[in-house]
Amino acid sequence: MHMKLWAGRTGGDVDERLSAINNSIGFDRRMYRQDIIGSIAHATMLGKVGVVTPEESTQIVDGLKGILADIESGALEIDMTCEDIHTFVEATLTGRIGAAGKKLHTGRSRNDQVALDIRMYLADAIDHLTGLAKELARAFCDVAEQHLETVMPGYTHLQRAQPITLGHWLMAYAQMLLRDIDRLRDCRRRTLVLPLGSGALAGTTYPLDRPYVAELLGFDGISLNSLDGVSDRDFALELLADLSILMTHLSRFSEEICLWCSWEFKFVTLADDFSTGSSIMPQKKNPDITELVRGKTGRVYGDLMTLLTAMKALPLAYNKDMQEDKEALFDAIDTAELSLSVLAPMLRTATFHPEAMRRAAAGGFINATDCADYLARKGIPFRDAYGIVGRLVRHCIERNTTLEALPLEQYRQFSTAFDEDVYPAIDLLACVNQRDLPGGPAPARVRDTLAATRQALAE
Ligand code: ARG
Repeated sequence: MHMKLWAGRTGGDVDERLSAINNSIGFDRRMYRQDIIGSIAHATMLGKVGVVTPEESTQIVDGLKGILADIESGALEIDMTCEDIHTFVEATLTGRIGAAGKKLHTGRSRNDQVALDIRMYLADAIDHLTGLAKELARAFCDVAEQHLETVMPGYTHLQRAQPITLGHWLMAYAQMLLRDIDRLRDCRRRTLVLPLGSGALAGTTYPLDRPYVAELLGFDGISLNSLDGVSDRDFALELLADLSILMTHLSRFSEEICLWCSWEFKFVTLADDFSTGSSIMPQKKNPDITELVRGKTGRVYGDLMTLLTAMKALPLAYNKDMQEDKEALFDAIDTAELSLSVLAPMLRTATFHPEAMRRAAAGGFINATDCADYLARKGIPFRDAYGIVGRLVRHCIERNTTLEALPLEQYRQFSTAFDEDVYPAIDLLACVNQRDLPGGPAPARVRDTLAATRQALAE
């Protein structure tokens, strides 16, 4: 099917090298569904306002429905020699129903058509991504619930800092996902603005009922400037930015899992069916999943840069540069979907090692702040208490011991304010329990965060 929708002024016979760079069917065939549904709405409206007769409208709509059904059943194969998906659908329609098919494009340009298709495609993708992000967030919640009292070191500078729990750590990632979901929701709102009716750039002379088309397609409103309607790709940039941030979160989680799988940490073991091995080293069990999510994050950043750069300084209105939006978008969506969908079952089947976490928590003076707080509660100004405990820690390091094991008389060489009750005060679980304010790691507070997060996910 070599027909060109634009074979008018020129014959439409083109050099195959022009086709190689110009054709987009290789990737925009993905939007066949959105293209057909958009055309059904357009044809329905054309019938309603009398630009085509009711019979013609019905004929076009039925023809389009038949094409959609046949593509989905496999009875109709998309012809890869067509320039793009819009050409394929219109040419197939005209081939099937004849003259009425040629009226489908009345009052429409491929410029507003493709802007519509991509908006519909992205709205669907956002819904799917949101579902996957919620699924991963639920996995974080479910695993966190089992580890509200699993004490582990919290880190700053990757140095042991203060005691937290595994549940608290997991819920941090759930919060990031909640914001990612919120950003997607926001982006969806700006995506569902109908560009159809913008024509090529200057609207159309036909009395199109744009709000009616918006209603048929479930859009929230219509674009208010035809130049902007065909040339706006902000919503696409926004989605790529949102997915870049989402992938940043997944890559940070992935990096921690990679570290935790190492023998240096051994905080977690991934299930065998979510791990890989080495072709030469028999002992190896590798966290390839999290390395790949970490690595694929770069692709999504690249996709954002691709579209930002393609859009930069484009004069109004449509320019063919904008055809470059699709591969970047599809790649980013595929990558984010894949990453979200693999991490959820990986997390659910992973085995965490509370003893190893506890051991790491006990060895790094992560209760030193609590020890200083203890002195402060006894009336010593915090800055002085800080200095006393700093010297105590050095004393422990020199004797290869810990604050928990240090005898009281040695404590008292540093400050007579120390008493037997220092030991329960610096007990690791007590240290966690004392961090009892909203957003803190105390089990009761993490339970509050869990409840609020689950409620947000249920909305
Ligand atoms: N395949 C094109 C795209 O993806 C469709 C719009 C073509 N419009 C044009 N004036 N050539 O952007």
